Order: sequence, then structure tokens, then C-alpha cells
Amino acid sequence: MCGIFAYLNYLTPKSRHEVLDLLLNGLKRLEYRGYDSTGVAIDSPQANDIVMVKRCGKVKVLEDAIAEHFSGKEYDEPVMTHVGIAHTRWATHGVPCETNSHPQRSDDENSFVVVHNGIVTNYKDVKTFLEKRGYIFESDTDTEVIAKLVHHLWKKHPGYSFRELVEQVIQQLEGAFAIAIKSKHFPGECVASRRGSPLLVGIKTKTRLSTDHIPILYGKDEKSPQTCEKDTEAQKTKVLPRTESTSEFMPLEEKEVEYFFASDASAVIEHTNRVIYLEDDDVAAVRDGTLSIHRLKKCLDDPHAREITTLKMEIQQIMKGNYDYFMLKEIFEQPESVVNTMRGRVRFDSKSVVLGGIKDFIPEIKRCRRLMLIGCGTSYHSAVATRQLLEELTELPVMVELASDFLDRNTPIFRDDVCFFISQSGETADSLMALRYCKQRGALIVGITNTVGSSICRESHCGVHINAGPEIGVASTKAYTSQFISLVMFALVMSEDRLSLQQRRLEIIQALYELPDRIRQVLKLDSQVQELAKDLFQHKSLLIMGRGYNFATCLEGALKVKELTYMHSEGIMAGELKHGPLALIDDRMPVMMIVLRDPVYIKCINALQQVTSRKGCPIIICEEGDEETKSYSSRSLEIPRTVDCLQGILTVIPMQLLSYHIAVLRGCDVDCPRNLAKSVTVE
Ligand code: AGP
Repeated sequence: MCGIFAYLNYLTPKSRHEVLDLLLNGLKRLEYRGYDSTGVAIDSPQANDIVMVKRCGKVKVLEDAIAEHFSGKEYDEPVMTHVGIAHTRWATHGVPCETNSHPQRSDDENSFVVVHNGIVTNYKDVKTFLEKRGYIFESDTDTEVIAKLVHHLWKKHPGYSFRELVEQVIQQLEGAFAIAIKSKHFPGECVASRRGSPLLVGIKTKTRLSTDHIPILYGKDEKSPQTCEKDTEAQKTKVLPRTESTSEFMPLEEKEVEYFFASDASAVIEHTNRVIYLEDDDVAAVRDGTLSIHRLKKCLDDPHAREITTLKMEIQQIMKGNYDYFMLKEIFEQPESVVNTMRGRVRFDSKSVVLGGIKDFIPEIKRCRRLMLIGCGTSYHSAVATRQLLEELTELPVMVELASDFLDRNTPIFRDDVCFFISQSGETADSLMALRYCKQRGALIVGITNTVGSSICRESHCGVHINAGPEIGVASTKAYTSQFISLVMFALVMSEDRLSLQQRRLEIIQALYELPDRIRQVLKLDSQVQELAKDLFQHKSLLIMGRGYNFATCLEGALKVKELTYMHSEGIMAGELKHGPLALIDDRMPVMMIVLRDPVYIKCINALQQVTSRKGCPIIICEEGDEETKSYSSRSLEIPRTVDCLQGILTVIPMQLLSYHIAVLRGCDVDCPRNLAKSVTVE
């Protein structure tokens, strides 16, 4: 997830320093969306040129660079009309560095510069197309293809307006994007568009806006020269046909107006509360101070216009959305983050899975002796959660190891081992040390991280970026479910040519398709979970029992409770109950039990009966409508059914919510629990 911000002042005098301050402040409001590198582009004081400053690191680093770079008096001169764009990055393609920072440009002359949030999944094809036409790429980003494609179409269709060029470009893109583009060839203009990533337009005028709707226009620009050869040319380059514009409204034409384009309202609210939320494939263009919104194709249910809404939120709220804590926001982001993890990888139409970051290594991995999954904390739990499925679909021995213990034992490692290092931060010292230990012994190293450019990412031979977006809360939530899914995708890749496993693969892929909605259903249990937290928050301990595909949830749930509430909690393998833990059970010990209709259901019912026969009063997590299982307890949480190997995604969410609510009731700092750090970079 990245933050994009653009500012256009029209007949509103602003010095370049004032514009730069506006851009930087906008980025600071968006920094929670990503903060590994940043950049700005503004009009140069020299005629008709664009200057950019980009830096690795947080917005503060950029701010210092701007102070140094733009110190001349010419930056204090007021400018009546100006366009600036800015970006704060969470790397998905290309390590965090200046070259990979945004804005990305079309050529050395900065003819077109773009800031982008999202993932262009077909960028390699577009890149090849452009390289064959002489374009030389300087970055490793997917974004760069956007700037160069606009430039390519501008050369081929000199009569096209800026908006029309962008409209044609977005038709060639697959994946998700929110973009803002400026150009030295179209001074005073800014064009923005979105598909799958959020983007809004803030409007600030001295007088009351003349309308509360912006019309949607279709097709040709009234002002652009209509030449027949252009259309002929358009047919040759397969540019989509353009239809007549139809609208009973007029675009917004205001004098002395300022426009703000931003990933979310946190960057806009302090300037104006009048915003338009763009919809997928809207193209918003400002030219001569006039804002217009265009769409290429008119859909039957399309409204004629986009509404100018009034924001009611306060600034501090918006940084965390409507949530009191980043952790809660990240729990509720999971329907979207799991989609981002699968985006461009799971092809639901063809029922296939492609992991670009490791596909060249799959033949070698298929010949290995065993798979080793190594991590710490929550990352280790994602390995436990997927071990059984990996064994089933790869038909290889699978070991899961805590990195610290793995190193203590000097575990034997061989050249034909494949070692996965799972790490949200990619900087955990124990995991990094274990990686180097395995690499020295010739094993193939696969990184599963959420942070491009991290040490684990860079030192791995290959890997998968889980694309969960920045995880700010110290307690890991959405990263866990994205790690889980990344390992499931790997298992599906490994079994793609096993005929005997095709039915099982299809069942899992279908369940992945339904997963976002299943997660939304589980999140609706939040108020029930909050009531359960009231029963539990004053206790000293909580036991969480389960087995099979849900044992990892017991471990992860216990970790969440410990790290957020400082209350003791233990994940217990239900099959081990009678080997000791049963002695803990009485009518006062808080117990949660996960009992789903899966291959170990009967064994879990057996454990449940052992607990209740000793006066235990467990809270049960069971499947929706499972009255038989519910009958064992007065308190239960019913979750929707999914394929057995993905149940752990759904059962962990009530545990994430429960630990959150208990922490709040106990007055704990949810986002920054005592004694903990987001990334443990010391052994
Ligand atoms: C999880 O909630 C904790 N913050 C902690 O266990 C974490 O998972 C562990 O430190 C590993 O971090 P990593 O994923 O960044 O390697």
C-alpha cells in the first residue's frame, strides 16, 4: 500500500515552497500507508520543466532533501497555476531506493511523471512492448511502465488530450492502480485515475461551490482537434473507439480553485471537506481550472455524475480510518489484504496459480529432500498452520522450526534442503541468522516476507512478497493471514501437475475465491467477541485447545492474548490433554476450544467431553449451525464453513478480536504493547 498525493492550484497564487510544504504535509498524513521511500515532482522555475526529488526512507528524509535542493529565491515567487505530485512508498516491485521511488518518469526530460499506488500485474508484458520500441527502463518498478506508455501514446497521437492519453493507457493495464500524472507538455493540467486502489479529489474554492455533482463525460474532448487521420491512426494502434460525450451537467469550472488528489481523506481534510470519491476506471482531469470526470464506456447503471460529498471526520480519526488502533484497522483490512496477496497470482478463471518470485526455482524445489519452514512468533505459527497441507500437496517431508531453537541445536542442513524463512519485517535477527546458517550449507533459500528490500528478502535466492501492506500494529494480524495464504499458494504451485490432486486443488482454489466474504462474515462476530472478552478480562489465564488444521490458531491465539493483554495464555494440542493439561481444568479455568467439522472432529469432541466432564465451561468455536457441538457449552462462536486447510484463516480472527477487546478492557496499549518491538532485530 502506498500513499499518493497531488495538489493543483489554479489562479491561486502559491510559491513553490508553499506547494512543497503542502505536498510534504500530505505525505505525512499518508505515511502510515507506506514509508520506505518518498518523492515529489513540481514545475521547475525554469520555463516548462519538471524537477523531482526522491529519497529512500521516511518523509522527514525527503523534507531535509527538499530544504537543501529547493533553496533558491525563485521558489518563493508566487505562481498562479501549478501542479505538484508526491508519493510515499511501500515497496512491492523493486527494493526501496531512490531510483525505485516515485514519481516515476517517461524519459530523461521528465516529459510525463506519475505516482502510483497498487500493483500492475501485467507490467512485464507492457515493459517488453515498450522496450521493443526503444524505451530504456531505469527502475525495477511496475509503475514506470505507466509513465512510458503515456509518452509512447503521446508520440503516436499528438492530437490527443492529456486525459485521452491516460484513458487509453489504463485500458492496457491489469491489476490495481491509483495514479496521478503531470506533464511538461500539458502545463497546469493533472490527470488521475483508479482501479482497485482508493483515490479521491478534494476541492477548495474561495466561494461556495456552484454544484454538488460533477458530470461524468464519455468520449471525445470538445476542445481537442478532431482529425480523421487521428482516428485512422487510432484504428491502427488499436486505440479503443471514442464515442460522443453525453451529459446534461457541465464540468466544474471555478475561478481561484485548488484541487487535492489523495489516497485517502487524511491528506485532504485540513484543506477542505468537499471531496469526490472516484470509482474504478474514472479518469479525473483538471485543465484550465476545470475538473471533469470521464469514463470510456457508459454502463447501464452508471449514474450521470459523481457526487461532491462533505467529510464529517476529524483528522486524527482518519489516520486509522474509523478505528481506535492500527491493529483493529489491520484486523478489519483482512478481506482486502488477502485479495492483495492473491492478486495476479491465483487465476480463478483458469484455476491456476503462478508465483513469479519463485517460479524459476520450482523444478529445483521439486527435487529437494525436504522443506524446512523457519520463523519466529506469529510467522512461525503460519508455518505450523500450513505444514499439513504442504505435506499433502508436495508429498515431501516438512519441518517447522523456531529460528532460535533451530540455531541452538545446530540442526543438520544439506544442499538438497529447501529452507523457507517467513518474516513480516524481514529483519528478525533469529530468522536472519538461521537463513545465513542454511545458506552457508548450500540449501536453497526462499524468503516469505512483507517488506521488499529487507535483509531476509535480499539474502534469499527467491521468494514471495505477501503484499499485505504495511503492518503498523506490533501484534501481527493481517501479515499472518497473508503468510498463511502465500504458503497455501506455494503448495498449489507444487502440485499443479499431480493428476491425483487436481480435485483437491480445485476445492482449495474455490475456497480462496470465497475467502474474502467468509472473512467478512467472521468479522461480524466482533460484538459477540466483545461480550466474551468481558467474561474473560479479569482472569489470570486462558487455555486454547484444538488440533489438526486449527492447532496453529491455538498457538497464535495464545500469543495474541499474551502480547496484548499481559495475561497468561497457552495453546494446547487437544490430543495432549490427557497427557497432563487436563489437570488444569476445573469450573474456574477459562478455556476456548476449536471444534470444526473436519477430519479430527471426533477427536476434538472427545477432548471437549473430557473438559466438560471435569466441570470445564469452554467457549467453543464451531461451524455455523452445528447445534450438536454447540450443545456442549452455553457460549459459542459460529464461523462459516470453508475447506479444512483454510479453516485456520477464519478461526484466528475471533482470537485476534478477543485479544484486542481484552487488552482494551485491561487498559493496555494495543498498538505498542509493553516490552515488545515490531521487529526484533537482536538475537
Ligand atoms: C507477532 O504478533 C509478534 N509481533 C512477533 O511474534 C512477531 O511475529 C515475530 O517477532 C516475528 O517477526 P517477523 O515476522 O517480522 O519476523
